[in-house]
Amino acid sequence: MQYNLTLFKQADLHQLTAFLNHAWEFDSITADLLNEKLYGDPNWQPELALVMHDENQIIGFMQGVVRDIRGIRYGYIKLMGVAQKYRRKGIASTLYNKLESAFKDLAVEVIRIYDAPLNYWMPGIDPKYTPALCWALRKGFKRFEDTANLKVDLYNQNWDTSLQEKKLASEGIEVRRAKADDKQAVLDFIQDEWALWGNEVKMTFKDTPPSIHIALVNGQVKAFSAHNGNNKGTGWFGPMGTHPDLRGKGMGAILLKRCLNDMKDMGLKHSVIPWVGPIDFYGWHANAIVERIFWRFEKTLK
Ligand SMILES: CC(C)(COP(=O)(O)OP(=O)(O)OC[C@H]1O[C@@H](n2cnc3c(N)ncnc32)[C@H](O)[C@@H]1OP(=O)(O)O)[C@@H](O)C(=O)NCCC(=O)NCCS
Repeated sequence: MQYNLTLFKQADLHQLTAFLNHAWEFDSITADLLNEKLYGDPNWQPELALVMHDENQIIGFMQGVVRDIRGIRYGYIKLMGVAQKYRRKGIASTLYNKLESAFKDLAVEVIRIYDAPLNYWMPGIDPKYTPALCWALRKGFKRFEDTANLKVDLYNQNWDTSLQEKKLASEGIEVRRAKADDKQAVLDFIQDEWALWGNEVKMTFKDTPPSIHIALVNGQVKAFSAHNGNNKGTGWFGPMGTHPDLRGKGMGAILLKRCLNDMKDMGLKHSVIPWVGPIDFYGWHANAIVERIFWRFEKTLK
């Protein structure tokens, strides 16, 4: 192949943004968001961000990241695309072969596509990207699960929770927006069950005021919900969690609505509730509808 494979460098950011917006038929990304997916990834490894050029023009891209999760080392294809007129010429395969060999050198055990927790673009392959499905199967991946992104119309709905909050207050439960100095308490709260959400929670504390609401019992954080922790500025909801002892008291619904109200105040028309999960909970409390389905793929390396 006469094309030239290089590593991504900062100077490529704007050309790469334009390239991806052209290569992806069903998504668009800004330079800021792409920056978040690259340098903003807690496991950013520049040697896994591969760019294919035809002379000075970007014609293919594949980013990998590696994460250790519950004792397994995962390698993720986090982003990929090939320019339409260069497809079926083996470009994605060449990028992938290079990435897979780097993953092997890094002792990766399982490779997945797109669903890289902590900082991700989409939680799998949207089957509308049919060439990507065919490509993944051809590369030896197996489909193992589906997940969905839900969409919430932020207008024409009432997100006021003051009455429910008064009721909880009478039971000794305080609900409020987190303050900057609540950060460690929230991180401690999620440490045992939801440590994987730490990065997104930290990202929400970068906003002023923080994009995170909490419920406290005797001053202890017992539930939280957050937004703007991933794909910043897009109306991305989550994560959220309530301590098992306190479920069923309506805290989750209140916390969810507080986040939705924040996003409405930011001027957004819709929120995305990604990588779900309990569709009925969001359907009931926020009239959320399934907007996109994603298929998840994995390949086990020997
Ligand atoms: C998916 C994508 C990256 C594949 O890039 P590519 O460079 O065309 O892929 P390759 O040439 O390496 O394809 C290798 C094999 O995958 C399979 N494949 C790829 N595209 C296919 C298609 N449209 N239909 C059927 N099989 C296909 C074929 O088996 C192909 O081998 P062959 O051409 O010898 O039959 C490209 O289609 C793309 O950029 N799509 C839009 C972006 C995208 O889907 N990103 C992922 C979103 S989750």
